[in-house]
Amino acid sequence: MNAPIVVDSVAALRAQVRDWRQAGLGVAMVPTMGALHDGHISLIRIALERADRCVVSIFVNPTQFAPTEDLDKYPRQLARDLDRLRDAGAHLAFTPGVAEMYPTGFATRISVGGPSSGLETDFRPNFFDGVATVVAKLFLQTAPDWAVFGEKDYQQLCVVRQLCRDLDLPVEIIGAPTVRDARGLAMSSRNAYLGEAELDVARQLNVILRRTAAELASGANEIRATSIATEALAQAGFQKVDYVAAREAVTLAPWRCDRDGRLLAAAWLGTTRLIDNVEIRST
Ligand code: PAJ
Repeated sequence: MNAPIVVDSVAALRAQVRDWRQAGLGVAMVPTMGALHDGHISLIRIALERADRCVVSIFVNPTQFAPTEDLDKYPRQLARDLDRLRDAGAHLAFTPGVAEMYPTGFATRISVGGPSSGLETDFRPNFFDGVATVVAKLFLQTAPDWAVFGEKDYQQLCVVRQLCRDLDLPVEIIGAPTVRDARGLAMSSRNAYLGEAELDVARQLNVILRRTAAELASGANEIRATSIATEALAQAGFQKVDYVAAREAVTLAPWRCDRDGRLLAAAWLGTTRLIDNVEIRST
């Protein structure tokens, strides 16, 4: 595979995408914060099933981190990421610095309603404003035909779909299944913070969610089932459970048991916060 073109300015990105478009090529984009793992690579593979060219952005977006969060220690490993992009067949890595994305005087914020309410927002109040603003910028900079987002960050996927619908952004959003390790743990850049014993606990998150989703699908009481799940996570070794909640799959409104749903959770292992979600298939 050829190494991807690496650009760090919006002007260079636009010039390259313009050349591709003039040649009649379709362009897909995969936004990331780097520290690429097999989950990210799966998105590139899905992008390349549709598009002739794939742009991957690598930008640790400061506006989606709260002051207390891990912005400074978030893993940054550009050389390794570029190797992985080459192996995956991505065509362009967009690696802007903070000053390119947020020049002095930057003063705009996009706030999406609907699916952003509750869940993550109850614990990270400015998170989706940061995500929506940077994703809108990336789409306007790149102008892709498609963009691929992981179901791993299920609420984020719903918020991005809402953003595109509401602002008539001409990009088709593709949701991609969560990639997990052999024992069910969703791949995440933040798993790098966990030791072996913590990884064993982390793997219980998906086990407990799948069990609870099966119970809900077969008619268990929602409040009871989610509080049993919360208790089970604590028993497994999670120090704090932010939420375990059943939601309607598309709008993230409260779940009605005759509809397809999603069971979502966030929980802490030491100073690392993990999220996961699974389908609730109505029978
Ligand atoms: P990041 O956490 O790097 O994730 C980039 C993309 O990879 C997201 O769409 C995420 O859902 C997807 N992803 C992560 N782990 C995955 C897994 N195990 N399986 C499948 N997909 C997975 O999400 C962000 O960055 C940022 O918020 C961003 C959208 C780039 C805006 O800054």
